[in-house]
Amino acid sequence: MLVPTAALLGFAEFGMTMTARARTDPQWMRAMKARGVPADAHRAKLRAALKDWAGPSWFAVVGLVFSIAQVRNWRQRHARFKVTYADDVMIEAPIGMSVLEVSRMARRAHMSVCGGRARCTTCRVQIAGTAGELPEPGELEAAALRRICAPNDVRLACQLRPKVDVTVQPLLHPSLVTATHHAVGQEFGEEQEVTILFVDIRGSTSLAETRLPYDVVFLLNSLFAALAEAVEKSGGYYSNFTGDGLMALFGLDRERAEGARAALRCALTMFETLDSLNDRLVGELETPFAIGVGIHTGEAIVGRMGPPKTPILSAIGDSVNTTARLESTTKELGVPLVVSVETLHAAGIRTSMPLEEVSLRGRAGTMAVAALDKASLRRILI
Ligand code: FES
Repeated sequence: MLVPTAALLGFAEFGMTMTARARTDPQWMRAMKARGVPADAHRAKLRAALKDWAGPSWFAVVGLVFSIAQVRNWRQRHARFKVTYADDVMIEAPIGMSVLEVSRMARRAHMSVCGGRARCTTCRVQIAGTAGELPEPGELEAAALRRICAPNDVRLACQLRPKVDVTVQPLLHPSLVTATHHAVGQEFGEEQEVTILFVDIRGSTSLAETRLPYDVVFLLNSLFAALAEAVEKSGGYYSNFTGDGLMALFGLDRERAEGARAALRCALTMFETLDSLNDRLVGELETPFAIGVGIHTGEAIVGRMGPPKTPILSAIGDSVNTTARLESTTKELGVPLVVSVETLHAAGIRTSMPLEEVSLRGRAGTMAVAALDKASLRRILI
C-alpha cells in the first residue's frame, strides 16, 4: 500500500514544482511546450514495460504481505506453551493466555482476589523453571511485587503470559480458595471510592482505670449507642467497633458527593449527640466524653471480612490508613474534627477557611486538611 501511495505523492510533488516554475517563468513554459516530448525509443519501451508490470507487481507485494500476516496469525493461534504445576500436572495452552487463565481453564483452584487486575498479589506463583526467557513484568505487576518485596522468581499469575514452557508453584495454598470463596459467598470485596470516618474516644483508658469495669461498660455502651445512631441516621455503615473508637463508611450505595456530605453530617450529629449525652451523664463523668474524628474520601477495598460465620462489612486500603492518621491529627491540631480536602471537594464544599498542610506517617509529602470544630462544621454544611 505504501509503494503506490509514495509514487503518487512523488508525482504530485513534481507536478506542483513544475506548476510553480511555470508561473514564475512563463518563457521556460513556452519553450517546453514548443519542444514537446522528445521521441525516445528506450523510454517508450520502459513505459510499456511499466504498464504491463506495475499493477501485477503491486498486487503481488500486497498479497505477499497479507499471506505473511495470515501465516503469522495461524502460527500464533497454534503456538502453544505448557504450564507444569508443583503436583506434576501439565496443562498445554495457546500462547497469549496468562498462567491464571490456564489454571482456570484446567479448573484448578487458584487464588485471584482482585480478579486478575494486578491489584492484589494472591495469584502469585514461584517460577520453578522455564524453557526460555519470560516476558518482563509490566508496570502494574512490578509495582505490586515491589510492594510485597517479592523475590525475583515470583510473578503474578494473572499478568504472566509466557511464550515458553514454565513450571510454577502457586504460593497461596489452594485450600485457601475453598475456605474463603465458598464460606463468604465468593465475596472478596471490590475497589470502591468511599468516604471513611474514624472516631476515637478520648480518655477511655483513664476512664477504665478510675471506674469499676461494669460502670465502664455501661458508659462506653451509652456512648457507642449514641455514635452508632448518628451513623445510621446519616445513612452510613459502622464497620468496626474497637474498645475506644469506631470506623464508619459512607457512599457505599450512593453517589460520591452524597457519601461525603453524609459523613460530614454524621460528624455533626455525633458532636450534638455527645453534648446531650454528656448533659445526661453529668453526675457520672468526671470529665465529659470527647471524641476526635477524621474523615477522608478515597479508593478502598470494601467487602465482607472476618471469620466466615460472622463477617462484617469493612474496608481496607491506603485511604483507610490515611483516615485513621487524620483522626490522630485532631490531637496535634487541637480540634475535634480533621477533614481531608478530598472529602471537601467530593462534597462540593468550597470554603474560604484556611486549610492546614499536615504530614501523615507513611505518606509522602503533605496533605491539605480542614481543622474544624462543631461551629465551623455547621457553617460549611449550610
Ligand atoms: S489476581 Fe490479583 S493480582 Fe492477580
